[in-house]
Amino acid sequence: MASVARTFTRAATRTATRTTLANTSRTTFRRAYSSQQSPKSSANPWLILTGAAAAGGLGFYFLNGSGASAASKPFVPTKDDYQRIYNEIAERLEEKDDYDDGSFGPVLLRLAWHASGTYDKETGTGGSNGATMRFAPEGDHGANAGLIAARDFLEPVKAKHPWISYSDLWILAGVCAIQEMQGPIIPYRPGRSDRDAAACTPDGRLPDATQGTNHLRNIFGRMGFNDQEIVALSGAHALGRCHTDRSGFDGPWTFSPTVLTNDYYRLLLEEKWQWKKWNGPAQYEDKTTKSLMMLPTDMALIQDKKMLPYVQKYAKDNDAFFKDFSAVVLKLFELGVPFAEGSENSRWVMKPTWDESS
Ligand code: HEM
Repeated sequence: MASVARTFTRAATRTATRTTLANTSRTTFRRAYSSQQSPKSSANPWLILTGAAAAGGLGFYFLNGSGASAASKPFVPTKDDYQRIYNEIAERLEEKDDYDDGSFGPVLLRLAWHASGTYDKETGTGGSNGATMRFAPEGDHGANAGLIAARDFLEPVKAKHPWISYSDLWILAGVCAIQEMQGPIIPYRPGRSDRDAAACTPDGRLPDATQGTNHLRNIFGRMGFNDQEIVALSGAHALGRCHTDRSGFDGPWTFSPTVLTNDYYRLLLEEKWQWKKWNGPAQYEDKTTKSLMMLPTDMALIQDKKMLPYVQKYAKDNDAFFKDFSAVVLKLFELGVPFAEGSENSRWVMKPTWDESS
């Protein structure tokens, strides 16, 4: 395992610029909603949704502030408007140096995944359309513990750009998190609309980390994913960490939890893993440094004869991982969304802030 760096690293950053921008933004932003707002308040009083369809998004009318006499000018968001939001999220990812490993990226990705991963292909319910995790009971489901940090992080963005739906915003933030943490491009299209508490999905649709591959096949099969896709999606655990006050588990999977690499697969194969002796839920720790962790579901991927070859493939080939990860995350983020017909041919590439090409 000598080839996998044993020191913790952070994404190469443009921290100075980010901090300046973040500070400016913080004074300008105004918090308008609590993350657990009631269904009623989801209708912003100065925004009326029109039926006008626009390039994958919708047209909006902003009233002139005087109420009913709608001196209105249609606002049709363009790709540039979404890119502006992407950039604002990117600039704030590292605004709190003491948050976890220095970036909100991992928890934003987890929010986008948990919003999408409730999808049930049989009933067409769940998925990223709706952003129903804003409400109880879904926000209180055990699997969603801690995601308030991500939802709260995005509130000022929503307050500043009320035309974007929470559901499009959460997914845009997931795309931003992956790309800014040096992962592959995830093509994006808007078109999600927010739904109320009645559309909350039942508990139990997200995976339980204490289980094995039968459980993973049931849960991900319900969303429409196969073995290869389950393994590719799991590579997201190169990022972030477990928190005792959220899931009960503890620690990061890799030494670079804010940079997306194929290290998750390499470490799974190259490191020796043993059960952690502690007072918490059963999890693995690496024998050498005892500073990394694997969940039972992570280890299950190398214990399963059908899943193992995909772990080996991604461990050997970062490009293959990035290619498959991009495809499977795109699929995940679009589950259950009634996009306009034909819009699958016009997804956008949101430009990473580190991409200096014009
Ligand atoms: C295979 C089934 C999965 C299980 C059982 C699982 C379970 C978990 C658990 C228990 C945590 C720790 C939460 C905490 O304590 O904060 C976690 C974190 C995380 N998961 Fe998963 N997960 C799975 C799949 C995925 C997928 C498909 C993605 C994204 C594509 C993902 C992305 C993440 C990220 C980025 C974090 C770190 C969050 C942070 O640092 O705050 N996971 N996962």
